[in-house]
Amino acid sequence: MSTSSNLLRLQRAVNHQGKRAYHDLVTLPTKKPIISQGPPGYSAVTGHVVTVFGCTGFLGRYLVSKLARMGTQVVVPYRDEDEKRRLKPMGDLGQIVPMEWDLRNENQIAECVRHSDIVYNLVGRDYATKNFDFTSVQVDGAEKIARITAQSGVPRFVHVSHLNASATSPSALYRTKAEGEERVNAAFQGATIIRPGPLYGYEDKLLNNMAIWPIWWKLNNAKTTIRPVHVMDVAQALANLVHSPQLGRTIALPGPAALTYEYLLDLVSSLTYQPPSRAPVVPKALALLVARAAQSVWWPLISPDEIVRRYIDDADTPGAWDEVGVTPADIEQHAIQYVRRYRSAENFSRPNVFPPKKSFTEELGY
Ligand SMILES: NC(=O)c1ccc[n+]([C@@H]2O[C@H](COP(=O)([O-])OP(=O)(O)OC[C@H]3O[C@@H](n4cnc5c(N)ncnc54)[C@H](OP(=O)(O)O)[C@@H]3O)[C@@H](O)[C@H]2O)c1
Repeated sequence: MSTSSNLLRLQRAVNHQGKRAYHDLVTLPTKKPIISQGPPGYSAVTGHVVTVFGCTGFLGRYLVSKLARMGTQVVVPYRDEDEKRRLKPMGDLGQIVPMEWDLRNENQIAECVRHSDIVYNLVGRDYATKNFDFTSVQVDGAEKIARITAQSGVPRFVHVSHLNASATSPSALYRTKAEGEERVNAAFQGATIIRPGPLYGYEDKLLNNMAIWPIWWKLNNAKTTIRPVHVMDVAQALANLVHSPQLGRTIALPGPAALTYEYLLDLVSSLTYQPPSRAPVVPKALALLVARAAQSVWWPLISPDEIVRRYIDDADTPGAWDEVGVTPADIEQHAIQYVRRYRSAENFSRPNVFPPKKSFTEELGY
């Protein structure tokens, strides 16, 4: 290639990089300018630096993917070396920054949030473990992250709670989620609290669990009503908050329809071509006994708190999807993607019920 055409290409590249518009500049309360550059997509730079606590979880990995795809630098605090590996290719070179952390180590939390202009807290666990009970994760842990984020001068904080968070709930998870919200609000003025409904997707504990253990979803005669929401929709809603000024309020993100476990079991059984489960309805006392016993022999099969939650209908709080710029999808639209794998191999050897395909000439009537 000639020197002049090389120069022309260089000139074009410089012009492209150097092009700036007023909308490329974002000013947050910290007065730190955030300047986006480059074409949109994986190799763009939004100028934002984001920390996602809980990035290795189900919702976290989709959020990291969406943020990185916009060209945002994402700090991904991890506990297990292997868990963070799958996050690394989600962003361009240097855009995914893994940092080891422990919820009990305040210095590590401070290091993780130091350069960020928005911090997400997705840390949560729906069962208590040997080292962390519900309170230490959902209440003390959430408050610690919010407080350190505020002390570090980060202007925006997004905390993920639960649609059913309530101080009077019979479930310890929902009670601690409500207490966590209060403590986060006290520690970080103007925090945004997101309350999603039960999430479904590839690695969910809803549709997958229904396909494997339908018996545990027949509790309460399968009459419990939930408002399932697609994990991608919640991840997109969270990612969109990067472009909003601090909202500083609680946003409920339930699914578009209230559905009973009975309906969802039918949906899963029809999509997996499995006959409806004939398992009996286990009485609550017996289910609790089994769940308690399972805690000492096998872990984490099902927790006693999960049994309690199977009897609680989802709150009928209206969703505030328009505030986050997402339209939630119906579960019937996506469920096939996630449960198709439970179809039996016999399915492939069944006789073909469709008429044989006509050749091109037969179609034309020759
Ligand atoms: N899944 C749902 O249906 C649903 C519905 C409504 C609200 N939510 C809330 O949404 C958030 C994300 O849910 P999810 O389904 O993605 O949960 P998940 O898959 O269980 O992931 C939880 C995340 O929290 C981290 N974590 C848990 N305990 C921790 C501890 N003691 N110290 C440090 N990190 C800890 C996990 O890290 P490791 O990978 O290192 O364990 C993981 O990154 C949670 O707050 C959850 O309560 C979930």
